[in-house]
Amino acid sequence: MQTGSLTYMATTAPGLGSIAISEISAKLPGAWIQNQMRGRILFNTDAPWGQIQELKCVDNLYLHIAWLKIGPHRNHLGDLTDDFESISLLDLPFLRRARPGSKVIINASRSGKHTFSRFEAAKAAMKGLAKAYKFTPGTVDDHEFNFRLDIVDQDALFSLKLTDSTFRFRGQRDFSKGALRPPIAHALIWLSNPKPEDTFLDPFCGSGTIVAERSLYTAQSIIGSDLSKNIVAIAKANVPDNVEIVQMDACSLTDIADESINSIVSNPPWGKQVAQGEDIGKLYMQFFQEMNRVLTKGGSAVLLTDRKSAIQAAAESTNLQCQELYTISLHGLLPVVYQIWKT
Ligand SMILES: C[S@@+](CC[C@H](N)C(=O)[O-])C[C@H]1O[C@@H](n2cnc3c(N)ncnc32)[C@H](O)[C@@H]1O
Repeated sequence: MQTGSLTYMATTAPGLGSIAISEISAKLPGAWIQNQMRGRILFNTDAPWGQIQELKCVDNLYLHIAWLKIGPHRNHLGDLTDDFESISLLDLPFLRRARPGSKVIINASRSGKHTFSRFEAAKAAMKGLAKAYKFTPGTVDDHEFNFRLDIVDQDALFSLKLTDSTFRFRGQRDFSKGALRPPIAHALIWLSNPKPEDTFLDPFCGSGTIVAERSLYTAQSIIGSDLSKNIVAIAKANVPDNVEIVQMDACSLTDIADESINSIVSNPPWGKQVAQGEDIGKLYMQFFQEMNRVLTKGGSAVLLTDRKSAIQAAAESTNLQCQELYTISLHGLLPVVYQIWKT
């Protein structure tokens, strides 16, 4: 679809915004980043829609329609209805099929101090759209247009959802327990700066999300390994032919030669993935020893975990350089993205 210059909103897991901005700038040359706020990035571009969908670090894409102001009290919702009545929609690409009677839904979020709920705000906005366009309220399962209203303090951002779950889940894949959402896996890959000459490994590959995302860029080799036979079978079914999946203990990477891997990206057990009584300090220590052995000099790793002391102790004992880069908000926990180097 040819769209002209438009403003889009991309959403990411909170904490991964700067990685997504780096991807937007690289994949959409000339894109202008207008604003970034907790998990939302507003950017302007004249790139065609097909090219914009090549963004892989983002969960969803929206067409940004309006940036309104809103007061904090319930009696300000009438102003919101008036504002929505005067929003101009029908000239916008993606909305040209809209007609009186179109079924629409508005999902609202709210942060800040207000005396109204997000549902009341969505209702007030819907009232304005019904007056202006004769749109009718749809349901989650039955609607033509899915709008979003994000209220942050005095600001109200209105947008149209352009992607659905098949975008962030890359169509149909089987995910194991503890699997990352593909856009989060992709953000880790993007941070690793993928290059065609890479020899790549994810030694805790689970259902293969990270290696599948890595396979979207050329590499010399891409290997995923996991201790569990069942999980290895799931990973094999999820990845394309250019990815090799093997069953292996990350603490004893027997199939991997010394100094043969220059890039590791992984999501070792953390949070609820850690079994009760499991000695995570020992697991990380032994894995770091193996990582030190298989990494080339100058090779690097990107790891996601909330086990701060285990990772720091393992890095210190192996003399690998370790830097804490981003804290992200995921499943109610705050894991950290680490970058590790072998100097
Ligand atoms: C957090 S999950 C990884 C999820 C994966 N990133 C995904 O998106 O599907 C951690 C994985 O580590 C594996 N694991 C645990 N201990 C291991 C070990 N010693 N060696 C290799 N894999 C191990 C588990 O079987 C599990 O699949």
